[in-house]
Amino acid sequence: MAKETATYIHGHHESVLRSHAWRTAENSAAYLLPELQADSTILDIGCGPGTISADFAALVPKGHVTAVDYAPGIVEQAEKEAESRGVANMSFAVADVHDLQYEDNTFDVVHAHQVLQHVGDPVQALREMRRVAKPGGVVAVRDSDYRAFTWFPEAEGLTKWLDLYEEVARAGGGEPDAGRMLKAWALRAGFDEKSIRATSTTWTFSSDAEREWWGGLWADRALHSDFAKQAVAGGHGTQDELQAISQSWKSWGENPEGWLMIPHGEVLARA
Ligand SMILES: C[S@@+](CC[C@H](N)C(=O)[O-])C[C@H]1O[C@@H](n2cnc3c(N)ncnc32)[C@H](O)[C@@H]1O
Repeated sequence: MAKETATYIHGHHESVLRSHAWRTAENSAAYLLPELQADSTILDIGCGPGTISADFAALVPKGHVTAVDYAPGIVEQAEKEAESRGVANMSFAVADVHDLQYEDNTFDVVHAHQVLQHVGDPVQALREMRRVAKPGGVVAVRDSDYRAFTWFPEAEGLTKWLDLYEEVARAGGGEPDAGRMLKAWALRAGFDEKSIRATSTTWTFSSDAEREWWGGLWADRALHSDFAKQAVAGGHGTQDELQAISQSWKSWGENPEGWLMIPHGEVLARA
């Protein structure tokens, strides 16, 4: 059976989770929400800290959300998130998207947010997602597209950040420009072209609070997350370069003229 071959380059450092725990069903899965029914059963793969999964659970009060991730520690954290919200219609498991432990035709909705960019075989992942979706059910994936990130003002350190990030991500076996490839991967996984709706949406960070948050978390991620460790260990960058990248994100965050747009590809495909 297929297994994960890629390294999850972000890891689960606090500076990474500061970003992931900000995510909601509304700001990260709006394209899927019209598909949800009160009794939908949802599999949320690569759930991370579980904020989106717990939002889904509130939206399907007569249904159920199964939240899974292949990192056991983060599954525990997702479980705590649900507990703290008093959400009852959820269960949790460790699972690899390449080889899910669920029967064929089990879920109404099979969802993965910002996961396919990190996996070794996204086409196999989509085949598995389709297998466990009920006939007529929905497979929903959304991933950012790093090369299409757009910011102002230009800064040498931020250009270096993007180049280094893409190099480290690909060395780990992932695809940082996944957003533009989701539709192609869905077709290769066997979805009918007519069953696929491919869209895109963005996050924009510009207000003082947004810039301080995003600039601050990447200033820390550049120095302390798994990305930083892999950049140095793999010979892709030096500690001095990471220091300069961190400083660039900090400066961007402090600049009232700063603006950042993060684009995402989305695919909603019927099984
Ligand atoms: C960028 S995080 C996204 C977390 C969450 N979906 C969100 O958007 O906040 C990607 C998650 O996918 C998980 N992951 C990576 N490879 C996986 C695999 N093969 N199967 C399941 N989960 C995986 C990672 O452990 C990580 O928690």
